[in-house]
Amino acid sequence: MGQESTASITGRFEGRVALVTGASRGIGLAVARRIVQEGGRVCVTGRKQEGLDAAVAELGGDTAMAVAGSADDPDHQDATVAAVLEQFGSLDVLVNNTGINPSYGPLAQADLGALRKILEVNVLAALAWTRKAVAAGLGAPGGAVVNIASVAGLKPAAGIGFYGTSKAALIHLTQQLAAELAPEVRVNAVAPAVVRTRFAGALFEGREAEVAATYPLGRLGAPDDIGAAVAFLASDDASWVTGQTLVVDGGLTLSGGI
Ligand SMILES: NC(=O)c1ccc[n+]([C@@H]2O[C@H](COP(=O)([O-])OP(=O)(O)OC[C@H]3O[C@@H](n4cnc5c(N)ncnc54)[C@H](OP(=O)(O)O)[C@@H]3O)[C@@H](O)[C@H]2O)c1
Repeated sequence: MGQESTASITGRFEGRVALVTGASRGIGLAVARRIVQEGGRVCVTGRKQEGLDAAVAELGGDTAMAVAGSADDPDHQDATVAAVLEQFGSLDVLVNNTGINPSYGPLAQADLGALRKILEVNVLAALAWTRKAVAAGLGAPGGAVVNIASVAGLKPAAGIGFYGTSKAALIHLTQQLAAELAPEVRVNAVAPAVVRTRFAGALFEGREAEVAATYPLGRLGAPDDIGAAVAFLASDDASWVTGQTLVVDGGLTLSGGI
């Protein structure tokens, strides 16, 4: 039997501070919004200040802050973690949401420089943020990391082979870190299929009904679908869950597709 939970469903992040990378829009912003709705405070990151300003305006100046920079920049990582501790006093939840895919097509023709950048941002940066968050006290007590992977990390997909390779590595990194950081810190991942964001636009724009029809649940994902899954994994509701990848895909992988 686990511990009896007395936390209210609506206040799962009361008194907690989360850092969500790549969160000026899309999935990251939905995650940040959900954490704030459930009583938490949040720091969002992204490269462009304008998008971050809009996000903080929406999330609320008392409950949200932002630091601009690229997720794979070590100085930005250090400055962000320091700013969170200074402004909010602790760091309890890290969501490694930033992911890029600057390479499309068969791997045989892919530019190795672009592939290295994918690994830097999608895998190594997630490890670096996690190390820095843990060093900042993430586990004192009950810290949680959630990595945003992809169903593309579960099996091969045409055109996005190295993106998928990086997400497969992120899923393995999730398991490895979960084993190494237990019991102080839980580490889990979410693997979405296509979610209606700018990042995925090329996969559905102009043919959304056709793409949605390939999903057993009959629609593409919304950023809030992922926000809800991340909130579960980051909260005490998942206090006995670590090293797992929660597939949130409208049933797509059930039907054999990705
Ligand atoms: N959408 C999907 O269908 C889908 C499916 C599976 C997995 N995912 C994963 O979900 C995550 C979020 O994707 P999304 O669809 O929400 O994308 P999105 O709507 O395009 O948002 C991307 C966010 O990340 C920021 N960003 C981009 N590159 C960055 C960098 N190098 N450093 C810091 N911030 C950066 C962007 O702001 P700036 O442009 O200002 O930097 C923006 O806030 C990614 O890891 C992606 O792989 C998405």
